[in-house]
Amino acid sequence: MTTVKYSLEDFTRDMESLIESQPGNQQIFDKGSAWLERLVSNPDSIPMEFRMPLGTGPRPNHASRMLYQGESGLQVTAVVWGAGDHLGPHDHLTWGMIGILDNTLTETRYHRVDDHNVDGYAKLEKDRAANFKPGEITLLIPETDEIHQMDNLTDKPTVEIHVYGNDLRSIDRHAYNLESGKVTTFRTQKWDNC
Ligand SMILES: [Fe+2]
Repeated sequence: MTTVKYSLEDFTRDMESLIESQPGNQQIFDKGSAWLERLVSNPDSIPMEFRMPLGTGPRPNHASRMLYQGESGLQVTAVVWGAGDHLGPHDHLTWGMIGILDNTLTETRYHRVDDHNVDGYAKLEKDRAANFKPGEITLLIPETDEIHQMDNLTDKPTVEIHVYGNDLRSIDRHAYNLESGKVTTFRTQKWDNC
């Protein structure tokens, strides 16, 4: 018997169809995370050329490559975290789902505990940290639970599929300095952020 594998094309078709029905975030997470789990559970779903670190430039250990950008805003990227790769706490300001394809990634979640009264300042408190393995999904819930730090604490590349409700290149987001409390506004250039 031939097993039909769930492809990137299947995933984006299902997601676009869901988004067209104007669902709430909970519906997106319920259905979308099950579809993303199917996608990243298929080891052949993403070609090898999207699963390698760049090897050159300021972050040779890293890579972020566009897989799909829809008119609806739906954005799908393949992100590679090389051995020891690290990205400090940041937000997303849109819903997101991350599925692990290869190796493991340590994600640390934070929440704001200040009163939002001082421009350019935020006090973050660590909420939890977890190691995600192939086939597992982590969700980004706008304003509620979406500030995270990413670390590859292993000695080989980790590959993830990132799915967002909006093109990150169109959103002014925030990076947080845990020590000083400084908030830096940034906008993703190309798609080399996550
Ligand atoms: Fe992120």
